[in-house]
Amino acid sequence: MNDLAGKHLVLGLTGGVACYKAADLCRAFVKEGASVQVVMTEAAAQFITPVTMQALSGRPVHTSQWDAREPNNMPHINLSREADAIVVAPCSADFIAKLVHGRADDLLSLLCLARPAQRVPLLLAPAMNREMWTHPATQRNLAQVAADGARVLGVGTGEQACGETGDGRMLEPHELLEDVVAAMQPKPLAGRRVLVTAGPTFEPIDPVRGITNHSSGKMGFAVARAAREAGAEVTLVAGPVHLPTPRGVRRVDVRTARQMLEATLGLADAADLFVATAAVADWRPAAEAAHKIKKDRSGQPPQLAFAENPDILATVAALPRARSGALYCVGFAAESQDLLANAQAKRARKGIPLLAGNIGPATFGQDDNQLLLVDAQGATELPRAPKLQLARTLVAEIARRLPTR
Ligand code: C5P
Repeated sequence: MNDLAGKHLVLGLTGGVACYKAADLCRAFVKEGASVQVVMTEAAAQFITPVTMQALSGRPVHTSQWDAREPNNMPHINLSREADAIVVAPCSADFIAKLVHGRADDLLSLLCLARPAQRVPLLLAPAMNREMWTHPATQRNLAQVAADGARVLGVGTGEQACGETGDGRMLEPHELLEDVVAAMQPKPLAGRRVLVTAGPTFEPIDPVRGITNHSSGKMGFAVARAAREAGAEVTLVAGPVHLPTPRGVRRVDVRTARQMLEATLGLADAADLFVATAAVADWRPAAEAAHKIKKDRSGQPPQLAFAENPDILATVAALPRARSGALYCVGFAAESQDLLANAQAKRARKGIPLLAGNIGPATFGQDDNQLLLVDAQGATELPRAPKLQLARTLVAEIARRLPTR
Protein backbone atom coordinates (compact mmCIF):
# COMPACT_ATOMS: atom_id res chain seq x y z
CA MET A 1 0.00 0.00 0.00
CA ASN A 2 3.09 2.21 0.18
CA ASP A 3 2.32 3.29 3.71
CA LEU A 4 5.81 4.78 4.04
CA ALA A 5 5.97 6.50 0.65
CA GLY A 6 8.16 9.59 0.81
CA LYS A 7 9.45 8.75 4.30
CA HIS A 8 13.11 8.50 5.14
CA LEU A 9 14.05 6.17 7.98
CA VAL A 10 17.29 5.64 9.81
CA LEU A 11 17.42 1.94 10.75
CA GLY A 12 19.91 1.41 13.57
CA LEU A 13 21.25 -2.04 14.42
CA THR A 14 22.92 -2.86 17.73
CA GLY A 15 24.49 -6.14 18.85
CA GLY A 16 22.15 -9.11 19.07
CA VAL A 17 21.20 -12.30 17.25
CA ALA A 18 17.98 -10.56 16.17
CA CYS A 19 20.10 -8.62 13.65
CA TYR A 20 19.12 -11.33 11.16
CA LYS A 21 15.53 -10.07 11.39
CA ALA A 22 16.67 -6.51 10.69
CA ALA A 23 17.46 -7.59 7.13
CA ASP A 24 13.80 -8.49 6.58
CA LEU A 25 12.67 -5.35 8.35
CA CYS A 26 14.81 -3.23 6.05
CA ARG A 27 13.22 -4.92 3.01
CA ALA A 28 9.76 -4.38 4.44
CA PHE A 29 10.44 -0.64 4.90
CA VAL A 30 11.73 -0.35 1.33
CA LYS A 31 8.78 -2.33 -0.08
CA GLU A 32 6.44 0.03 1.75
CA GLY A 33 8.02 2.97 -0.07
CA ALA A 34 10.55 4.31 2.45
CA SER A 35 14.16 5.16 1.80
CA VAL A 36 16.32 3.58 4.49
CA GLN A 37 19.70 4.62 5.83
CA VAL A 38 21.24 1.81 7.87
CA VAL A 39 23.54 2.64 10.77
CA MET A 40 25.29 -0.21 12.59
CA THR A 41 27.25 -0.39 15.80
CA GLU A 42 30.49 -2.36 15.94
CA ALA A 43 28.67 -5.09 17.89
CA ALA A 44 25.91 -5.32 15.25
CA ALA A 45 28.55 -5.98 12.59
CA GLN A 46 29.51 -9.13 14.54
CA PHE A 47 26.06 -10.54 13.75
CA ILE A 48 25.32 -9.39 10.18
CA THR A 49 27.53 -7.68 7.64
CA PRO A 50 27.12 -4.14 6.36
CA VAL A 51 27.30 -5.70 2.87
CA THR A 52 23.92 -7.40 3.37
CA MET A 53 22.34 -4.25 4.77
CA GLN A 54 23.78 -2.09 1.97
CA ALA A 55 22.40 -4.47 -0.66
CA LEU A 56 18.93 -4.44 0.92
CA SER A 57 18.76 -0.69 1.57
CA GLY A 58 20.54 0.37 -1.61
CA ARG A 59 22.78 2.75 0.37
CA PRO A 60 26.22 2.45 1.93
CA VAL A 61 25.89 1.62 5.63
CA HIS A 62 27.25 4.06 8.19
CA THR A 63 29.27 2.57 11.03
CA SER A 64 31.46 5.40 12.32
CA GLN A 65 31.14 8.96 13.54
CA TRP A 66 34.43 9.67 11.79
CA ASP A 67 33.47 9.76 8.15
CA ALA A 68 35.28 11.78 5.50
CA ARG A 69 32.54 10.89 2.97
CA GLU A 70 30.37 13.52 4.66
CA PRO A 71 31.52 16.98 3.48
CA ASN A 72 31.30 18.38 7.03
CA ASN A 73 32.37 15.07 8.63
CA MET A 74 29.28 15.22 10.84
CA PRO A 75 27.22 12.15 9.96
CA HIS A 76 25.42 12.33 13.34
CA ILE A 77 23.96 15.73 12.39
CA ASN A 78 23.29 15.02 8.72
CA LEU A 79 21.67 11.60 9.20
CA SER A 80 19.46 12.67 12.11
CA ARG A 81 18.27 15.86 10.40
CA GLU A 82 17.15 14.15 7.18
CA ALA A 83 15.24 11.34 8.97
CA ASP A 84 11.47 11.19 9.49
CA ALA A 85 12.09 8.60 12.23
CA ILE A 86 14.94 6.63 13.77
CA VAL A 87 14.21 2.95 14.41
CA VAL A 88 16.68 0.94 16.46
CA ALA A 89 16.03 -2.77 15.78
CA PRO A 90 17.43 -4.75 17.46
CA CYS A 91 18.02 -2.50 20.42
CA SER A 92 20.29 -4.19 22.99
CA ALA A 93 20.10 -3.80 26.77
CA ASP A 94 23.46 -2.05 26.63
CA PHE A 95 22.28 0.43 24.02
CA ILE A 96 19.20 1.31 26.08
CA ALA A 97 21.48 1.91 29.09
CA LYS A 98 23.61 4.14 26.90
CA LEU A 99 20.63 6.20 25.76
CA VAL A 100 19.51 6.64 29.37
CA HIS A 101 22.86 8.17 30.24
CA GLY A 102 23.06 10.30 27.13
CA ARG A 103 26.31 8.66 26.17
CA ALA A 104 27.45 9.20 22.62
CA ASP A 105 30.69 7.40 21.84
CA ASP A 106 29.56 5.72 18.61
CA LEU A 107 27.63 7.00 15.60
CA LEU A 108 24.24 5.45 16.47
CA SER A 109 24.06 6.67 20.08
CA LEU A 110 25.47 10.00 18.94
CA LEU A 111 22.78 10.55 16.33
CA CYS A 112 20.03 9.42 18.74
CA LEU A 113 21.23 12.08 21.18
CA ALA A 114 21.60 14.70 18.45
CA ARG A 115 18.20 14.11 16.84
CA PRO A 116 15.70 16.97 16.85
CA ALA A 117 13.45 15.24 19.38
CA GLN A 118 10.27 17.22 18.58
CA ARG A 119 10.35 16.31 14.92
CA VAL A 120 12.10 12.94 14.67
CA PRO A 121 10.60 10.10 16.73
CA LEU A 122 12.96 7.48 18.14
CA LEU A 123 11.49 3.96 18.13
CA LEU A 124 13.22 1.14 19.97
CA ALA A 125 12.69 -2.58 19.35
CA PRO A 126 14.42 -4.27 22.28
CA ALA A 127 15.91 -7.75 21.87
CA MET A 128 17.62 -9.68 24.63
CA ASN A 129 17.65 -12.76 26.83
CA ARG A 130 14.67 -13.05 29.17
CA GLU A 131 16.79 -12.60 32.33
CA MET A 132 18.31 -9.43 30.87
CA TRP A 133 14.81 -8.21 29.95
CA THR A 134 13.32 -8.70 33.42
CA HIS A 135 16.41 -7.40 35.25
CA PRO A 136 15.47 -4.35 37.32
CA ALA A 137 18.25 -2.34 35.68
CA THR A 138 16.78 -2.94 32.21
CA GLN A 139 13.21 -2.25 33.34
CA ARG A 140 14.37 0.94 35.08
CA ASN A 141 16.23 2.02 31.94
CA LEU A 142 13.24 1.28 29.70
CA ALA A 143 10.98 3.43 31.87
CA GLN A 144 13.55 6.24 31.80
CA VAL A 145 14.18 6.11 28.06
CA ALA A 146 10.39 6.23 27.47
CA ALA A 147 10.09 9.18 29.88
CA ASP A 148 12.84 10.88 27.86
CA GLY A 149 10.70 10.63 24.72
CA ALA A 150 11.63 7.35 23.01
CA ARG A 151 8.88 4.92 22.03
CA VAL A 152 9.58 1.41 23.24
CA LEU A 153 7.83 -1.00 20.88
CA GLY A 154 7.70 -3.97 23.27
CA VAL A 155 9.04 -7.48 22.88
CA GLY A 156 7.71 -10.87 21.88
CA THR A 157 7.58 -14.03 23.96
CA GLY A 158 8.87 -17.45 23.00
CA GLU A 159 11.99 -19.43 22.27
CA GLN A 160 15.21 -17.49 22.43
CA ALA A 161 18.47 -18.08 20.59
CA CYS A 162 20.11 -18.99 23.92
CA GLY A 163 17.72 -21.92 24.29
CA GLU A 164 15.62 -20.35 27.02
CA THR A 165 11.96 -19.39 26.67
CA GLY A 166 10.39 -16.12 27.79
CA ASP A 167 10.04 -12.40 27.12
CA GLY A 168 12.68 -10.48 25.22
CA ARG A 169 12.51 -11.66 21.62
CA MET A 170 12.52 -8.85 19.11
CA LEU A 171 9.08 -8.32 17.55
CA GLU A 172 8.69 -9.82 14.09
CA PRO A 173 9.40 -7.56 11.10
CA HIS A 174 5.71 -7.36 10.10
CA GLU A 175 4.80 -6.30 13.65
CA LEU A 176 7.52 -3.66 13.70
CA LEU A 177 6.42 -2.40 10.29
CA GLU A 178 2.84 -1.97 11.58
CA ASP A 179 4.14 -0.10 14.66
CA VAL A 180 6.37 2.21 12.62
CA VAL A 181 3.57 2.96 10.13
CA ALA A 182 1.27 3.73 13.09
CA ALA A 183 3.84 6.03 14.65
CA MET A 184 3.87 8.13 11.47
CA GLN A 185 0.09 8.67 11.39
CA PRO A 186 -1.60 11.81 12.75
CA LYS A 187 -3.24 11.39 16.19
CA PRO A 188 -6.71 13.02 16.04
CA LEU A 189 -8.15 10.35 18.38
CA ALA A 190 -5.48 10.64 21.10
CA GLY A 191 -7.05 9.97 24.49
CA ARG A 192 -10.32 8.64 22.98
CA ARG A 193 -11.73 5.17 23.62
CA VAL A 194 -13.17 3.45 20.59
CA LEU A 195 -15.40 0.39 20.32
CA VAL A 196 -15.80 -1.38 16.96
CA THR A 197 -17.95 -4.35 15.94
CA ALA A 198 -16.82 -6.33 12.92
CA GLY A 199 -17.44 -9.41 10.83
CA PRO A 200 -20.54 -11.57 10.45
CA THR A 201 -22.39 -13.35 13.21
CA PHE A 202 -23.05 -17.08 13.21
CA GLU A 203 -26.45 -18.28 14.35
CA PRO A 204 -26.46 -22.00 15.14
CA ILE A 205 -29.14 -24.35 13.86
CA ASP A 206 -27.65 -27.39 15.55
CA PRO A 207 -24.14 -28.25 16.81
CA VAL A 208 -22.74 -28.54 13.28
CA ARG A 209 -24.71 -26.02 11.19
CA GLY A 210 -25.67 -22.41 11.27
CA ILE A 211 -26.64 -19.25 9.40
CA THR A 212 -24.03 -16.65 8.57
CA ASN A 213 -23.09 -14.26 5.73
CA HIS A 214 -20.17 -13.30 3.53
CA SER A 215 -18.83 -10.41 5.62
CA SER A 216 -15.05 -10.83 5.86
CA GLY A 217 -14.58 -8.35 8.71
CA LYS A 218 -11.90 -6.53 6.70
CA MET A 219 -13.52 -3.09 6.89
CA GLY A 220 -14.10 -3.31 10.65
CA PHE A 221 -10.58 -4.55 11.30
CA ALA A 222 -9.25 -1.70 9.15
CA VAL A 223 -11.34 0.80 11.15
CA ALA A 224 -9.99 -0.65 14.42
CA ARG A 225 -6.41 -0.41 13.12
CA ALA A 226 -6.90 3.13 11.81
CA ALA A 227 -8.44 4.26 15.12
CA ARG A 228 -5.49 2.76 16.99
CA GLU A 229 -3.04 4.46 14.63
CA ALA A 230 -4.91 7.71 15.30
CA GLY A 231 -4.06 7.38 18.98
CA ALA A 232 -7.23 5.80 20.40
CA GLU A 233 -7.54 2.93 22.84
CA VAL A 234 -9.48 0.41 20.76
CA THR A 235 -11.62 -2.62 21.56
CA LEU A 236 -12.80 -4.77 18.69
CA VAL A 237 -15.78 -7.10 19.13
CA ALA A 238 -15.37 -9.61 16.31
CA GLY A 239 -17.67 -12.25 14.90
CA PRO A 240 -16.11 -15.40 13.40
CA VAL A 241 -13.46 -14.20 10.92
CA HIS A 242 -10.00 -15.30 9.90
CA LEU A 243 -8.10 -12.06 10.37
CA PRO A 244 -5.15 -11.17 12.57
CA THR A 245 -5.83 -8.69 15.38
CA PRO A 246 -4.44 -5.24 14.56
CA ARG A 247 -1.46 -4.33 16.78
CA GLY A 248 -2.36 -2.72 20.06
CA VAL A 249 -6.08 -3.48 19.69
CA ARG A 250 -7.97 -5.43 22.34
CA ARG A 251 -10.13 -8.11 20.74
CA VAL A 252 -13.22 -9.87 22.08
CA ASP A 253 -14.40 -12.79 19.96
CA VAL A 254 -18.09 -13.64 19.79
CA ARG A 255 -20.22 -15.88 17.61
CA THR A 256 -23.88 -14.89 17.75
CA ALA A 257 -25.70 -11.55 17.55
CA ARG A 258 -26.83 -11.90 21.14
CA GLN A 259 -23.25 -12.49 22.30
CA MET A 260 -22.15 -9.49 20.26
CA LEU A 261 -24.84 -7.34 21.89
CA GLU A 262 -23.85 -8.48 25.38
CA ALA A 263 -20.14 -7.85 24.78
CA THR A 264 -20.84 -4.47 23.19
CA LEU A 265 -23.16 -3.26 25.94
CA GLY A 266 -20.57 -4.31 28.52
CA LEU A 267 -17.99 -2.11 26.81
CA ALA A 268 -20.09 0.84 25.65
CA ASP A 269 -19.94 2.61 29.01
CA ALA A 270 -16.20 3.00 28.67
CA ALA A 271 -16.22 4.24 25.06
CA ASP A 272 -16.37 7.71 23.47
CA LEU A 273 -16.94 6.40 19.95
CA PHE A 274 -18.82 3.34 18.68
CA VAL A 275 -18.39 2.20 15.08
CA ALA A 276 -20.74 -0.63 14.07
CA THR A 277 -19.34 -2.32 10.99
CA ALA A 278 -20.56 -5.84 11.82
CA ALA A 279 -22.94 -7.56 9.42
CA VAL A 280 -25.22 -8.88 12.12
CA ALA A 281 -27.64 -11.64 11.10
CA ASP A 282 -31.16 -10.24 11.17
CA TRP A 283 -32.70 -13.54 12.25
CA ARG A 284 -31.59 -16.62 14.13
CA PRO A 285 -33.15 -20.06 14.36
CA ALA A 286 -35.64 -19.74 17.20
CA ALA A 287 -34.11 -22.74 18.96
CA GLU A 288 -30.76 -24.48 18.57
CA ALA A 289 -31.22 -28.23 18.33
CA ALA A 290 -29.19 -30.02 21.01
CA HIS A 291 -28.02 -32.64 18.49
CA LYS A 292 -27.38 -32.72 14.77
CA ILE A 293 -30.66 -32.72 12.90
CA LYS A 294 -30.68 -35.96 10.93
CA LYS A 295 -32.31 -36.75 7.62
CA ASP A 296 -35.21 -39.10 8.21
CA ARG A 297 -36.82 -41.29 5.60
CA SER A 298 -39.95 -39.15 5.26
CA GLY A 299 -38.33 -36.91 2.63
CA GLN A 300 -39.60 -33.89 4.55
CA PRO A 301 -37.02 -31.17 5.28
CA PRO A 302 -36.99 -29.91 8.88
CA GLN A 303 -39.18 -26.90 9.60
CA LEU A 304 -37.07 -24.05 10.99
CA ALA A 305 -38.67 -21.22 12.92
CA PHE A 306 -36.83 -17.88 13.20
CA ALA A 307 -36.58 -15.17 15.83
CA GLU A 308 -35.46 -11.61 15.17
CA ASN A 309 -32.02 -10.64 16.47
CA PRO A 310 -31.47 -7.50 18.53
CA ASP A 311 -30.30 -4.41 16.64
CA ILE A 312 -26.98 -3.72 18.36
CA LEU A 313 -26.39 -0.30 16.86
CA ALA A 314 -29.92 0.96 17.57
CA THR A 315 -29.70 -0.39 21.13
CA VAL A 316 -26.38 1.36 21.79
CA ALA A 317 -27.57 4.57 20.10
CA ALA A 318 -30.57 4.63 22.49
CA LEU A 319 -28.35 4.48 25.61
CA PRO A 320 -28.38 7.68 27.68
CA ARG A 321 -24.61 8.04 27.07
CA ALA A 322 -25.20 8.10 23.33
CA ARG A 323 -28.24 10.36 23.52
CA SER A 324 -26.31 12.88 25.58
CA GLY A 325 -23.54 12.94 22.96
CA ALA A 326 -20.91 11.38 25.26
CA LEU A 327 -20.83 8.29 23.01
CA TYR A 328 -20.71 9.14 19.30
CA CYS A 329 -22.24 6.34 17.16
CA VAL A 330 -21.36 5.55 13.57
CA GLY A 331 -23.22 2.95 11.53
CA PHE A 332 -22.55 1.22 8.24
CA ALA A 333 -25.10 0.34 5.60
CA ALA A 334 -24.62 -2.18 2.84
CA GLU A 335 -27.14 -1.40 0.12
CA SER A 336 -27.63 -2.79 -3.33
CA GLN A 337 -29.12 0.37 -4.88
CA ASP A 338 -30.17 3.97 -4.22
CA LEU A 339 -27.37 4.47 -1.72
CA LEU A 340 -28.03 8.09 -0.74
CA ALA A 341 -31.75 7.73 0.00
CA ASN A 342 -31.31 4.41 1.78
CA ALA A 343 -28.37 5.69 3.84
CA GLN A 344 -30.25 8.81 4.90
CA ALA A 345 -33.28 6.77 5.90
CA LYS A 346 -31.15 4.30 7.84
CA ARG A 347 -29.32 7.07 9.69
CA ALA A 348 -32.63 8.47 10.88
CA ARG A 349 -34.05 5.06 11.75
CA LYS A 350 -31.05 4.10 13.86
CA GLY A 351 -30.92 7.49 15.56
CA ILE A 352 -27.21 8.04 14.88
CA PRO A 353 -25.26 11.16 13.84
CA LEU A 354 -23.18 9.54 11.08
CA LEU A 355 -23.69 6.66 8.68
CA ALA A 356 -21.25 5.22 6.11
CA GLY A 357 -23.05 3.68 3.16
CA ASN A 358 -21.55 1.25 0.68
CA ILE A 359 -22.75 -1.06 -2.05
CA GLY A 360 -22.77 -4.47 -0.36
CA PRO A 361 -21.80 -6.81 -3.21
CA ALA A 362 -18.97 -4.42 -4.17
CA THR A 363 -17.35 -4.60 -0.74
CA PHE A 364 -17.87 -8.08 0.76
CA GLY A 365 -14.51 -9.85 0.88
CA GLN A 366 -12.83 -7.17 -1.27
CA ASP A 367 -9.66 -5.35 -0.29
CA ASP A 368 -10.99 -2.00 -1.39
CA ASN A 369 -14.26 -0.16 -1.07
CA GLN A 370 -15.88 3.25 -1.44
CA LEU A 371 -18.13 5.01 1.05
CA LEU A 372 -20.80 7.66 1.15
CA LEU A 373 -20.83 9.48 4.50
CA VAL A 374 -24.21 10.82 5.51
CA ASP A 375 -24.73 13.15 8.45
CA ALA A 376 -27.10 15.99 9.37
CA GLN A 377 -25.21 18.36 7.04
CA GLY A 378 -25.44 16.19 3.93
CA ALA A 379 -23.36 13.60 2.10
CA THR A 380 -19.62 13.24 1.43
CA GLU A 381 -18.15 10.71 -0.99
CA LEU A 382 -15.00 8.85 -0.03
CA PRO A 383 -13.67 7.52 -3.35
CA ARG A 384 -12.66 3.90 -3.92
CA ALA A 385 -9.47 3.02 -2.07
CA PRO A 386 -7.92 0.12 -0.15
CA LYS A 387 -9.96 -0.50 3.01
CA LEU A 388 -7.18 0.61 5.37
CA GLN A 389 -6.73 3.90 3.52
CA LEU A 390 -10.48 4.42 3.48
CA ALA A 391 -10.65 3.61 7.20
CA ARG A 392 -7.98 6.25 7.90
CA THR A 393 -10.01 8.85 5.99
CA LEU A 394 -13.17 7.76 7.79
CA VAL A 395 -11.42 8.06 11.17
CA ALA A 396 -10.26 11.57 10.28
CA GLU A 397 -13.83 12.48 9.22
CA ILE A 398 -15.23 11.09 12.48
CA ALA A 399 -12.57 12.88 14.56
CA ARG A 400 -13.63 16.22 12.98
CA ARG A 401 -17.21 15.58 14.07
CA LEU A 402 -16.54 14.44 17.65
CA PRO A 403 -17.65 16.89 20.31
CA THR A 404 -14.63 18.66 21.80
CA ARG A 405 -13.89 17.84 25.41
O1 C5P B 1 -30.25 -2.49 9.54
P1 C5P B 1 -28.98 -2.76 8.83
O2 C5P B 1 -28.42 -4.15 9.09
O3 C5P B 1 -28.96 -2.47 7.39
O4 C5P B 1 -27.98 -1.69 9.49
C1 C5P B 1 -26.61 -1.75 9.34
C2 C5P B 1 -25.93 -1.11 10.51
O5 C5P B 1 -26.51 -1.53 11.74
C3 C5P B 1 -24.50 -1.53 10.64
O6 C5P B 1 -23.79 -0.49 11.25
C4 C5P B 1 -24.57 -2.76 11.51
O7 C5P B 1 -23.35 -3.03 12.17
C5 C5P B 1 -25.67 -2.38 12.47
N1 C5P B 1 -26.48 -3.50 12.94
C6 C5P B 1 -26.43 -3.90 14.26
N2 C5P B 1 -27.23 -4.92 14.70
C7 C5P B 1 -28.09 -5.53 13.88
C8 C5P B 1 -28.19 -5.12 12.55
C9 C5P B 1 -27.36 -4.12 12.11
O8 C5P B 1 -25.59 -3.35 15.00
N3 C5P B 1 -28.86 -6.51 14.33
